[in-house]
Amino acid sequence: MAGQDILSFLGCGDWVSGEEMASRQGISRAAVWKQIKNLKARGYKIEASTKKGYRLAKKPDLLDADLIHSSLKTKWLGKDLCCRREVSSTNEVARSIARDCQNGTVILAEIQTQGRGRLCRPWASPPGGVWMSLVLKPQMPLAQVFRVNMAVSVAVSRSIHALYGLNADIKWPNDLLINERKICGILMEVSAEVDRLEYAVVGLGINANVDVSGFPAEWNSTSLSQELGREVSRAELIQKILQEMEEAYEKMGSKEIYEEWRRRSTTLGRQVRITSLEGDLTGEAVDLAEDGALLLRAKEGLKRIVAGDCVHLRPLEDS
Ligand code: BTN
Repeated sequence: MAGQDILSFLGCGDWVSGEEMASRQGISRAAVWKQIKNLKARGYKIEASTKKGYRLAKKPDLLDADLIHSSLKTKWLGKDLCCRREVSSTNEVARSIARDCQNGTVILAEIQTQGRGRLCRPWASPPGGVWMSLVLKPQMPLAQVFRVNMAVSVAVSRSIHALYGLNADIKWPNDLLINERKICGILMEVSAEVDRLEYAVVGLGINANVDVSGFPAEWNSTSLSQELGREVSRAELIQKILQEMEEAYEKMGSKEIYEEWRRRSTTLGRQVRITSLEGDLTGEAVDLAEDGALLLRAKEGLKRIVAGDCVHLRPLEDS
């Protein structure tokens, strides 16, 4: 007897006795119990009462391609969408198919066993998050790939604000913070032929319904469920991000996206420490250029940083 059959009894939300489920399926009560245990492990909340039997209290917020497609209003982004239970990393899966798949293919997973962050850092990916990679194939020179970054950060920030009224500020180059804590990280990996972009795999890690209390303090993480005091629908969040992303993609490289990216920045005007290939630099982030570079007023002079790791040195009010 599959968990699915048990669900057909419990689906209405009423109490059903173990005995009834067992006899109607022609199996033992122990087998029913085994399936109940299985469903619980998959995130179903099932109440048990010695007198009344079992009752489905809550379905898990599982990722399902049909569910996401049912209200997805995009023209091309996410039309090809794959939800996996467990992968090493959605970016790895996306990269393995990137050359042959269509522009806008999306890979999602409930769990990543080897989620990766920028600078080869590990990315914790337990159930409840949005671990998603987009394969994008814009026609552009490699030197303009920062435009994809800008569009993605703006799209995610817009989505979080539109759905939950929360300000998700952009920390240069492309983290998103709510109340100074990290809610989303973006890992973009590209392939190019000569100087033309062949594809970009954009990996988004959003702590949606994730308990971040066990994460290392230095990660400074938060989650949507923590900020809101309730769980969110990941399917709805994914739909919104894909819609916003498709819109932003069509405007990549425009003044509108650049200005919004700049306006949503929480790095601008701050004292920061930048670690790049040239070493560490400390100073004030005085501007963000149209090509995505950060202008840093350091004691060594005005520096233009195109890539690096950024640490905000003081809380916003002190900067
Ligand atoms: C960072 O802030 O360092 C970037 C984190 C990116 C995490 C996402 S989760 C989906 C995709 N798959 C990965 O292995 N990484 C990205």
